[in-house]
Amino acid sequence: MTAQRIDGKVFAATVREKVAGHVARLKEVHGLIPGLAVVLVGEDPASQVYVRNKGKQTIEVGMNSFEHKLPVNTSQEDLLALLDKLNADPEIHGILVQLPLPSHLNEDLVINRISPEKDVDGFHISNVGLLATGQKAMVPCTPLGCLMMLRDHHGSLSGLNAVVVGRSNIVGKPMASLLLRDSCTVTIAHSRTKDIEALCRGADIVVAAVGRPQMVTGDWIKPGATVIDVGINRIDAPEKGEGKTRLVGDCDFDSCAEVAGAITPVPGGVGPMTIACLLANTVTACCRANG
Ligand code: GUN
Repeated sequence: MTAQRIDGKVFAATVREKVAGHVARLKEVHGLIPGLAVVLVGEDPASQVYVRNKGKQTIEVGMNSFEHKLPVNTSQEDLLALLDKLNADPEIHGILVQLPLPSHLNEDLVINRISPEKDVDGFHISNVGLLATGQKAMVPCTPLGCLMMLRDHHGSLSGLNAVVVGRSNIVGKPMASLLLRDSCTVTIAHSRTKDIEALCRGADIVVAAVGRPQMVTGDWIKPGATVIDVGINRIDAPEKGEGKTRLVGDCDFDSCAEVAGAITPVPGGVGPMTIACLLANTVTACCRANG
């Protein structure tokens, strides 16, 4: 391996420490405690783990955590009524509705019911528009975490060629907006892109967010490029024993690490940064709400 390993666990711990410092000062100087409300509809096991971790880390940095666990058959009307209540609650500065929602609920309608000022996920159409036009927005947590790691590694990103593999609303599109805001030359690649390998080989930065295990291999990577792997995929691992599994990213770590200058591992790369950025966004929302 030649690439430097970008340690998201260590980086996220530093971000959480800074957040905890801000929270302590808000309490001491202004008597304010930032509050984050997380709404989970249904019992999807992966979502339950994420929500538990969010609640735990929210409390660890000194903020208030409000969890709302609703049954899988919750009506759209009831969910919207809860959001209206949370929007009006001055103790709550950030609201997150865990996705995906059960299929009978309209995700766009639900997300856009959250007050844009409390939309710590940055998914509300107003925040999407503000980010796309380079204005002050709530920025989606996963791409924000990626950007922080890239800035830390490179200093300035100005003029670098970046390829974002994946065009999701949660990662791909906001990641492209953020890289453009930092003056990268940005290309979004997706399942219909022609010669995606050659495109990636021209990139100084590759961000992989497609949800396809180990799709990006070392021969796609320009020597010395930075690889940010957003994927979290569980695959069979017969080498660990019968029925065992392991987590891998959207990049084949070993072959990419032979060629890249720097790379984020999975697990322990982008993942820990997402919740750290959610906490940071909640503090930002609290500060903006209180002038
Ligand atoms: N599900 C997977 N990632 C996310 C995220 O960043 N925010 C929310 N609300 N749900 C998710």
